[in-house]
Amino acid sequence: MRKTSYDSKMPKEKPELSDAMKKKLQGKTFEKNPIKGTKFTIAISSAKGGVGKSTFATNLALALSKCGCKVGLLDADIYGPSLPKMFSINEKPKSDKQNLIPIMKYDIQCMSIGFLTEEETPMIWRGPMVTSAIKTFTQKVDWNGLDFIIVDMPPGTGDTQLTFSQEIKMDGVIIVSTPQEIALQDVKRGIRMFDKLGVKIIGLVDNMSHFIGDDGKKYPIFGEGGVKKTAEDFKKEFLGEIPIDPEVGKQGDLGKPIVESNPENKISKIYLDLAKKIKSNYF
Ligand SMILES: Nc1ncnc2c1ncn2[C@@H]1O[C@H](COP(=O)(O)OP(=O)(O)O)[C@@H](O)[C@H]1O
Ligand SMILES: [Mg+2]
Repeated sequence: MRKTSYDSKMPKEKPELSDAMKKKLQGKTFEKNPIKGTKFTIAISSAKGGVGKSTFATNLALALSKCGCKVGLLDADIYGPSLPKMFSINEKPKSDKQNLIPIMKYDIQCMSIGFLTEEETPMIWRGPMVTSAIKTFTQKVDWNGLDFIIVDMPPGTGDTQLTFSQEIKMDGVIIVSTPQEIALQDVKRGIRMFDKLGVKIIGLVDNMSHFIGDDGKKYPIFGEGGVKKTAEDFKKEFLGEIPIDPEVGKQGDLGKPIVESNPENKISKIYLDLAKKIKSNYF
């Protein structure tokens, strides 16, 4: 075969790739930064809205605090913050030089986008602004001496979940669901997302599992056993059931969740037992 002048000029071995080029070919690797000021970060998630994440997050935070832990509560639901209402907080956080200082309520360090906006102002933000708010809340808040930060996630498998999973060191996530098929479908999506992103799933909670009537009978309003079965199917721990109790909703609306307003209530005891279990997993 005739040798072209082009061939003769080509080096025989493949050229070494530059370091910058090698890095590009490897794909993006994320550096996971821990939230400063806390030992452990635990997120409360579900893929669906309205299943009781915020109710669970606030009560679990209070229960951990009653077990002797120092706790922070980060409301990461930028489009639908619940913490101002559920903890009845109406003040704005102060800042110290570059950082925001969390607001102390019920012995818990709290932060929410809702502290910085008017109650009924909608957050009309695109994804990158949400990501930037999450970074501020995790890197530019003076969380101080905490054992746990409980993160109340928004519904879905979107920007907030991705930012937390890829760029923030998370020690675990608890998935809350009602036993309804439509909610469970989303839970499965949520489990797959966290598994894919390498975030440890602590377990699944069946919230609003049933209602106990005045007649003492158990009414499985949203169906029965679905969350436990999903946990088994995905080989995750089932953390238990929390029944529907109108008192739970009422106390949340009044700004003093049930664990704080009535620690002797049956449902408060469920939260306290769970908090003990979670504490013993980490300490
Ligand atoms: N165990 C429960 N018993 C009664 N009401 C509950 C219970 N858990 C949650 N709720 C109510 O369900 C509604 C949705 O709860 P919320 O915590 O805001 O859900 P999410 O954060 O998932 O959107 C609220 O009105 C809340 O008071
Ligand atoms: Mg919520």
